[in-house]
Amino acid sequence: MGVSSRPARPQPSRFDPYRSRVVSNARGMLHKARAGTLGAGRWVAHQWRSSLQFRVIAMTMLLGTVVVLLLGSYLYQQIADGLVTDRTRTATEEAAQGARAAQSRFDTADRTDPSSLSVLATDLVQQLASPGADHARDVILTRAMTNTRPAVVPTVLSGAVGMPSVPPELRRAVSGDTSHQHVQIISVNAPGTTREVPTVLVGSQVTLPVAGAYELYFVFPMQREQDTLEVVARTFTLGGLALVLMVGAVAYVVTRLVVEPVRRAAEVAERLASGGLSERMRARGQDDLARLAKSFNAMAESLQRQIRQLEDLSRVQQRFVSDVSHELRTPLTTIRMAGDLIHDSRDDFDPSVARSAELLHDELDRFESLLGDLLEISRFDAGAAALDVEATDVRDTVARVVEATTTLADRRGTPLQVEVPHRACVAEIDPRRVERVLRNLVVNAIEHGEGRPITIRVAVNPKAVAVTVRDHGVGLRPGEAALVFNRFWRADPARARTTGGTGLGLAIALEDAHLHDGWLQAWGEPGRGSCFRLTLPRRAGVPIERSPLPLTPDEEKPQKARVGGPYASLAPPGEAPR
Ligand SMILES: Nc1ncnc2c1ncn2[C@@H]1O[C@H](COP(=O)(O)OP(=O)(O)OP(=O)(O)O)[C@@H](O)[C@H]1O
Ligand SMILES: [Mg+2]
Repeated sequence: MGVSSRPARPQPSRFDPYRSRVVSNARGMLHKARAGTLGAGRWVAHQWRSSLQFRVIAMTMLLGTVVVLLLGSYLYQQIADGLVTDRTRTATEEAAQGARAAQSRFDTADRTDPSSLSVLATDLVQQLASPGADHARDVILTRAMTNTRPAVVPTVLSGAVGMPSVPPELRRAVSGDTSHQHVQIISVNAPGTTREVPTVLVGSQVTLPVAGAYELYFVFPMQREQDTLEVVARTFTLGGLALVLMVGAVAYVVTRLVVEPVRRAAEVAERLASGGLSERMRARGQDDLARLAKSFNAMAESLQRQIRQLEDLSRVQQRFVSDVSHELRTPLTTIRMAGDLIHDSRDDFDPSVARSAELLHDELDRFESLLGDLLEISRFDAGAAALDVEATDVRDTVARVVEATTTLADRRGTPLQVEVPHRACVAEIDPRRVERVLRNLVVNAIEHGEGRPITIRVAVNPKAVAVTVRDHGVGLRPGEAALVFNRFWRADPARARTTGGTGLGLAIALEDAHLHDGWLQAWGEPGRGSCFRLTLPRRAGVPIERSPLPLTPDEEKPQKARVGGPYASLAPPGEAPR
């Protein structure tokens, strides 16, 4: 009957709640320990990077530890060498004395009686082993390696150290040179322990009557020396540790003296940078830090003076612009009335005078709009511009702007295309200002759009509403997207203009956007056209996180699919809305 035995498969272990809890606890602790180590490592790295004081203290303690280690190990080695040399010297002297005494005892012994010779050897070894001195020592008497006479006296030991402890090379040396002592340092277990004690072993030869040459070894364990060295090592370790800590404490105190004023200077500089122009450092005494504080204060003083001067100058300029604009208004009104009168009766004049009347009328329009812009800018500069906020559907504002610019667009043959969501895009805005911003954007797009279609898009997200005006005209050269918002900046002042802009439109638009806590951004590339995006918060005081519409065509691509969905086109492409 064949019984086949298969190796037992490991059984799936049953769920053991206790074991699993222990394992999960252990994992948790391991995880915590790892996180703790990582956290501590990160803290040290952060402190190393950010705190000069930490760096100085750490470096000082590190260097202190290296110096203490080097110096400590050198001194320890010197002391150990000194103790061993000293012990070896006294050991060889004692051993020489002992060997001489033993030889003279053997010389005077009874030469014929082997048993009395054995007794004599045992007595002698015991006597030599305890000379009454404070150093314990052992003695071994054994037959020389070269002695071939029949053994008469067996090996005699005074203590626990036996022949196996004597190295063969020492024995060979003692046998080879019988006229000298031979010394070797070996390790021997301390009696009753497994601790090894360095031991001085001094060997020489004595001649016994009848028995011949015998080796006499003196064993001097350096227990005391080892104890002394242990005390020295302990003292050095504790002393070194205390020294390193003291060096660290000294470094802390010293760096604090230097770093603290530097930190204070940094804080004062930060406050100064964030507008606190009257911030100053405390400058006491005559030292380097006091000089630093004085120079810093002198610098802050000079900066404050210059900034005040600039502010005064700027205020004077603003006042001047504002005053001039106001002063010009009265004569302009009179000229306007006279101009209108002349313009209305131009048909009665001869053609050249009639043409002049028309030119005068147009230039007066420009003059009036420039004056209006200047007054608006001076209101912004004086901080007198205030928002007149009301909940407005931005789609209505856009529709009004489109209506107002249609005539100009038609004249330039530019199709205006509007894409707005079906649902209302209500936001808390100042409709008059937003309309002015959008009108300027659309007029700019018509003027620089070279007759190609212009797309005006509106979109909302929970926090913001955005309007983009995209044209496919001349576009902006690299760097111009930031310059367009500068006052009186025009890409090409000589460019043919129909309405004759002054370069203030986008500067005012940007101020309007900022007044709303909104964004006004520009993108453009030569030949690809431009896009201007106005993003405003839907609720006053709730900051914008991101704009609902893309600014550049590259950002636009992934969102294209949405255009057909929630958007409605007010006018089909290529046809201007009426
Ligand atoms: N869509 C655009 N494409 C190309 N360049 C533009 C566009 N919009 C503005 N710019 C450039 O930015 C300049 C400044 O525009 P801004 O609206 O501030 O002034 P303006 O249109 O010249 O005059 P204003 O708007 O005061 O009547 C323009 O002169 C033009 O060079
Ligand atoms: Mg403009």
